[in-house]
This record gives sequence, C-alpha cells and structure tokens, in this order.
Amino acid sequence: MDFQISALAADAASAAAADALLVVVPAGEAKTGDAALDALIARVVKQGDFERKAGSALYLQGAEGIKATRVLLVGAASLAGKAVRKALDAGLAGLKGRNVKHLAVALVGGAPTAVHAEALVCAMEQASYTYTQTKPSAKVVATPAKVTLLTDKAGLAGARAAIKQGLGVAEGVRLARTLGNMPANFCTPTYLGTEAKRLAKEGGMKAQVLGLKEIEKLGMGSFLSVTRGSVQPPAFIVLEYQGAGAKAAPVVLVGKGITFDTGGISLKPGADMDEMKFDMCGAAAVLGTMRAVAELKPKVNVVALVPTCENMPSGVATKPGDVVTSMSGQTIEVLNTDAEGRLILCDALTYAERFKPQAVVDVATLTGAIIIGLGNHNLGLYASDDKLADDLLAASKEALDPAWRMPLDEEYDEALKSNFADMANVGSRAGGSITAAKFLQRYTGSYAWAHLDIAGVSHKSGAQKGATGRPVGLLTHFVLNRAK
Ligand code: BES
Ligand code: MN
Ligand code: ZN
Repeated sequence: MDFQISALAADAASAAAADALLVVVPAGEAKTGDAALDALIARVVKQGDFERKAGSALYLQGAEGIKATRVLLVGAASLAGKAVRKALDAGLAGLKGRNVKHLAVALVGGAPTAVHAEALVCAMEQASYTYTQTKPSAKVVATPAKVTLLTDKAGLAGARAAIKQGLGVAEGVRLARTLGNMPANFCTPTYLGTEAKRLAKEGGMKAQVLGLKEIEKLGMGSFLSVTRGSVQPPAFIVLEYQGAGAKAAPVVLVGKGITFDTGGISLKPGADMDEMKFDMCGAAAVLGTMRAVAELKPKVNVVALVPTCENMPSGVATKPGDVVTSMSGQTIEVLNTDAEGRLILCDALTYAERFKPQAVVDVATLTGAIIIGLGNHNLGLYASDDKLADDLLAASKEALDPAWRMPLDEEYDEALKSNFADMANVGSRAGGSITAAKFLQRYTGSYAWAHLDIAGVSHKSGAQKGATGRPVGLLTHFVLNRAK
C-alpha cells in the first residue's frame, strides 16, 4: 500500500496542514476541544446544513479558521467501531477523485481507539482497491500519499500499534480479494500453489505444494474424487509460519480452494455460475491471513492447509452414488457431486492431526444454505469447543468482521446416514449449512475445531461483484490474540 499513516499528537485539528480534513461526528453533543472546528460544527448544525447522525455529510472549501483546504464532515450513529467505520467509508467515498495528497482524519468525542485506527486503515484499503490483473485498463484510484490520524498524547502509542496492525490486515485482505477476483482460468490450483511459495519466500515461511502423486500416496480419496473430472492438476498446499518455539502447538487454518465449482455431474444451473470462481475464497482468506501474519510476526505457530482443485463434469468425473474412501478410512457415498467442499476439507482435517494443533479453523464457501440463514452480513461460525468459539467471536468484534454462532447438536448428524457407506455427503435441504458442518466434524477427532461458512460474505454479486477479503480480519485477530 502506498499510503503512510502517522498518528500525530496534534492538539488542533484546525492547524493540520492537510489538503483535506475528514471529521467523523457522532450523534450527541461531543466536542473535539479544537475551538475553530467545534465552532464550525456548531454553526453548520445550527444552520441545518449538517446533522450529527449517520448518513449526514457536508463538504466545505476554505472553512473559516481551518488550515486544511477542504473539510468533510461525516455523521456517525455513535462512536462504536462499526458506526465509525461506516462514516469513514462514506467520507472516503466523498473524497474520491478529489486529488487529496495529504488527508487528516479527526474523530469528535474522544481519541480514536485501536478499533477506530485499524478501521481507518481498512477503510483506506477498501477505498483504494482496484482490480487490474485481467483489466489493466482499470482506472486506479489515486490514494493520498499521506494520511494523518489525529489523536492526543495519551492515544499516540495505541494508535500507532493499531495502524501497524491495520496495515498488516489490509495487505492480507488485498491479497485475498485479488486471488478471489482472478478468473478460474488464471487462478488455478497450480497458481495458488505458486502464490503460496511466493508468500513463503517473501515472508520467511515454509511452503510445500503436494501434487497429484503425493495426494494419492496420502490416501486422500475424498479430495481426489472431486478433482477427477478436471484437467487442471490439484494441489495440497502446506504453508508454515513459525513465530514460537518449534514444539509449540500451532493454530491450523484450512481453506477451501475450489478454483471453480460447476457442481460436477450434479451440474449447477447456468445463471450466475461465473460466481463459482469465488469458491476458493476460503483458501484466499487463509493465504491472506498468512500474509498478514508474516508481516505482523506474532509469537505463535500457524499452519495453513489448502486443498485446491476444480469441480468439473467429464467422462471420468465422480458420479452420484459413487463411494469413496477418505484419508481417515471412513467411506463416503457421494450423493451430490456439488457438495464437494466438504469432500476436499475432510481429508485436510485428517491431515491436520499430524501437527497436534491447539486449534483448527476451516474456512469455506461451503453452502448456499448459510446465505438463506444469515444473508450477506454474518458468516456462520461452528465450533466444537466453547472457548474456541468465544475467541473467534471476540476476534470478529475487534476486526469488525461479523460472525454468528451456529449449532452442532448431534440430532443434525442423522441426516448423513447412508446405506452404502459410513456417511452420505449430503443430508436433506433442511439445515443444509449445519449438516455440512456435521459432516466435517466427523473428521476432527482430537483437536479443538471451528468451521466458518463464508458463502454469504466472501464476495458480492451484481454491480459490486467482487471478493471482499473476509474473514482475513477475523482470522488475523484470532491468531494475534493466540500469541498473547
Ligand atoms: N460452493 C457451493 C456453495 C456456495 C453457494 C457458495 C453459493 C457461494 C454461493 C457449494 O459447493 C455447493 O454447491 N453447495 C451446495 C450443497 C448442496 C448440494 C448440499 C449448495 O449449497 O447448494
Ligand atoms: Mn458445490
Ligand atoms: Zn463449492
């Protein structure tokens, strides 16, 4: 990212020598303590040009008593992280294309917290992201070369640390978005493997990319049943970050890396099928998190596992009713070849055992059912362990990356009964995201495990079509907290 942020102990926002001053104004009567700025806000509120509430904004040139060339006031519902983030997004959108080289940001009602500071960096990332990989003509948004977050002396150190952390998260989000956005003829399993090796090289990590022969040798019959119909070779990526002693139990992150999901022989309908290029967003989020981790260097060990392949129909593709044997030895009746994510993840979950992990978190665009349940806001969080669930929910709050815990009652498991194998790969339509999680749980013997169903949050459709980079924020915070 080509913008720098410094937290300055400036007591007066009005004295900031910036070419734009963005001021977040929450509901209530709070003041900044900066006489000129407080007077300005009071005046425009009284005049009726601006309201102290979410959605209100006022752009001013040459405001009286303010050194910055432009002032943009944006209302916020409150000082809550989420509300401030929304105001920052609105403010940055309002400044887009205005050739701002030095942006100063002030918050009315108190020094910015760590959540606010990190939110600013992530909002900048969001506002400046341009996808160019297969569209070199895309107009790259000019970003301010310098961004100054105004805080008081007491808030300085905290803001600096939060900004540094935000820059790490933003890098990870950026990578996850780019990988997610790249079409499946560019972002192949082989490409993801190459990316993992590049990340390892740049970030002092260890990468191994296992190919077809090695995957066969491991006995990953479930994973292999998905890749069978594709001419693109599969890969199993193992990326290791060592921030603690060699013997310390690692956090293992597992990402679903289906680079394109046609549904296989259980072919998906044609409408919007292009969006199934986003079916590797779990893998992208895990690789993005590793990128952030390599930058922020927490004292914890982290392993990323990415099973990656295409799900294609062909004369040799797996057929509904075929029975396959997973690496764990359990057999699976593949009733629906479109329920392929769980088939590649289950073997990765078995592989994870060898690391004797402190926790395993898998991340997957697993089911359409989670979109019916939670829409496009919260991701679905499943956990076999309450402490792990709480840690992930806490990370979700810190990162402003919303998650909602879902149930794993044993009653849901019955749907997976098969007459011809240890389990079927699908249940009935009812509770489809939950039965998918129950399927995965059968492969998580000896460690604390959580599963994030991100199908509703990994990407947007329509005019805003594109990967979001979620949940890199949640995962990075979770990993950082494990180092504390
Ligand atoms: N990749 C899809 C899930 C998905 C759907 C992700 C929509 C993003 C947007 C997954 O592989 C899938 O096809 N799931 C099936 C499972 C069903 C066959 C039990 C689904 O949700 O329809
Ligand atoms: Mn599918
Ligand atoms: Zn899929």
